[in-house]
Order: sequence, then structure tokens, then C-alpha cells
Amino acid sequence: MKVILGAGGQRWDGWTATQQSELDLLAPATFAQFFGEARAEAFLCEHVWEHLTLEEGKRAARLVYEFLEPGGFLRVAVPDGRHPDPAYRALVAVNGPGPAHDHRVLYTLESFVPVFTGAGFAVTPLEYWAVDGTFHSSDWDVKAAPVYRSSALDHRNAAWRDGSGLPGFTSLILDAHRS
Ligand SMILES: C[S@@+](CC[C@H](N)C(=O)[O-])C[C@H]1O[C@@H](n2cnc3c(N)ncnc32)[C@H](O)[C@@H]1O
Repeated sequence: MKVILGAGGQRWDGWTATQQSELDLLAPATFAQFFGEARAEAFLCEHVWEHLTLEEGKRAARLVYEFLEPGGFLRVAVPDGRHPDPAYRALVAVNGPGPAHDHRVLYTLESFVPVFTGAGFAVTPLEYWAVDGTFHSSDWDVKAAPVYRSSALDHRNAAWRDGSGLPGFTSLILDAHRS
């Protein structure tokens, strides 16, 4: 079973989309009820973790670890606090405008990775802005677990992709593997 957490309107082939009402990252009982003795092969979670406080995010990482089968992975994406565009950073800021009104944390690679290593995961960064202002993207398989707000998929990156413009909307994206 491959499960999207906090899916909102997102749907991807081969993935079961769930909402907070079914699987709440802050309510372990919802996971126990949904999964029973089963475990997920993979979780996908795009732009959800920033809605949790740091402590809630750490608890949620431990919860997801528990409900992944050994060898499974979580692909997780959040706004990137090192994105070079001040307009982007304003849009995703803590207590930001519109849908960001309940953003609790603006992560960077350095603050996000320990949330998952602390829960027992081995972490592979897929996309992020580094402290020196460079963008890093590993050769990751976007189709295996799609993240829309990524360099490859987001419509706001079209000009960047064809070399005619600046980066639009990217994310800090990690794979967190359970051994
Ligand atoms: C900005 S929306 C992102 C929706 C979708 N993942 C996307 O990328 O379009 C934030 C989502 O996080 C979900 N969410 C917030 N807190 C959550 C929690 N504790 N457990 C599960 N989902 C949560 C909300 O219900 C909402 O669907």
C-alpha cells in the first residue's frame, strides 16, 4: 500500500490519497485504526510537515516510521527556507499569508534532516537550496513518488527548466528510508 498523507486535492496513480480526518499525523490512533496489522510500502507527504510544530514534526516522523514496512520509505517535501527569492520566502513564512497562516516552521536542509534521522530513518536529500545559494537536485525518480512543487513538475519552473528564466517554486525534498 502506497499512501499520500494530507493529500488535499492531490491524486497520483498507484497511490491511496488520504486526508487528515483519516490519517492524522498528530493522532496515532487514526494510524492504528487505518492500518491494523498492515504496514505501508511508502508514504508521500507534500507541504504538510510545515503545518506542524518542530516537536509535533518529530513525533509525526516516529509515527510514520512505525507504520512503514521495513525497506519502505517516506518522500516528504516542505517549503525551502533557503530559496533565494524573498517573495517565495514571504509566501511560505511562519504565520504567512493565505494558506500559510498556520505554517509553524520554515525548514532548511540542516533543520529538516534531523527530524527524520532522529526517528530512525536514513535520509537522502533529493532537492534543496544550500547555504551557499546553489540549488541541488539529485538524480531522483519523480515518477516513483511525485512531488508537484519540484523543479521537474511545477508549472512555475517552466522558464527555469528551459533556461530562459529564474527558479519559480521549489521544495526541500527528502527520501526517508526505514531499514
Ligand atoms: C498546503 S495543504 C497541502 C495539500 C497537498 N499535500 C498538496 O501538496 O497540495 C496542507 C495539508 O496538510 C494537511 N494537514 C495538516 N495537518 C495535518 C496532520 N496533522 N495530519 C495530516 N495532514 C495534515 C491539511 O489537511 C492539508 O491537506
